[in-house]
Amino acid sequence: MTDAPNIVLIGFMGTGKTSVGHRLASRLGLTFVDMDHVIEQRQGCAISELFATRGEPFFRSLERDLVRELAGRRGLVIGTGGGIVLNPDNVADFARTGLVVCLKASPETILRRVEHDTTRPLLAQGDKAARIRDLLAKRQALYDAAPNPIDTDALGLDEVVETVIRLYRQAMVHPPCRRQA
Ligand code: S3P
Repeated sequence: MTDAPNIVLIGFMGTGKTSVGHRLASRLGLTFVDMDHVIEQRQGCAISELFATRGEPFFRSLERDLVRELAGRRGLVIGTGGGIVLNPDNVADFARTGLVVCLKASPETILRRVEHDTTRPLLAQGDKAARIRDLLAKRQALYDAAPNPIDTDALGLDEVVETVIRLYRQAMVHPPCRRQA
């Protein structure tokens, strides 16, 4: 257990949150928590099954509850689901617990990374490239409003990890000003 500030990775599907999160956690001696994985374990079924049987709003409520729970812990690297930005309270709650980083990638890079994936319900129907472009466009303003963007298109995994570690160390030395109550 450590009381170090959390690192929270947000960003669209296929931007590398899980791979980066795993490596970051082992580099920094923090615990990696993948939110989708926790939800799947607790519900005993895959995210795609959850969407199909209970619907997206139910999934979003589980996601919201888990944000509140994880925001009460420290010493974590948290890999969020791509839709976490749909409720700005999620980002605000996480921002109070440590560093929030938004991983970004072009639609082409995202498509390359998720091309053969069958686990993401929001990309399961229709043309994947079109779905990615459409969803990204709908959420663009939300990702743009997120703190600490990192464009991952031209970076390897370790370069992304190093960039996050730099931001984390800076944030530990110069924490954001806290408004007086
Ligand atoms: C979603 C992203 C997925 C998962 C769910 C919904 C989204 O997570 O939470 O399928 O709304 O963007 P990844 O970003 O890890 O793929």
